[in-house]
Amino acid sequence: MTNLIYVQPNGARLEVEAPDGITVMQAAVDTEIDGIIGACAGSCACGTCHVYIDERYTSLLPPMTREEDNKLDEVAAKVKRNSRMACRLIVTPRLEGMVVYIPETQG
Ligand code: FES
Repeated sequence: MTNLIYVQPNGARLEVEAPDGITVMQAAVDTEIDGIIGACAGSCACGTCHVYIDERYTSLLPPMTREEDNKLDEVAAKVKRNSRMACRLIVTPRLEGMVVYIPETQG
């Protein structure tokens, strides 16, 4: 299990003990965190799992694929340099304490 901290646009924080091996999207959906929808169940098709990743952790994440990069072109909220699709990020112990910022809107 790895602790992740999800932060809503209003600053509300929720710490989640996420099972290793699932995605950052699935950990949010399983704990009913608002703002991460995961409508395509993790196939990088819907654009509803956009998040901003704690910049201290971005170097620990897998490189972005073209598929993920293309999907970020279609999301509703502003794309930043720390934007990722949460369904592309696997929870591992190296991500202990990672903060996941949820954008104002998804889609
Ligand atoms: S869950 Fe649909 S793009 Fe990530």
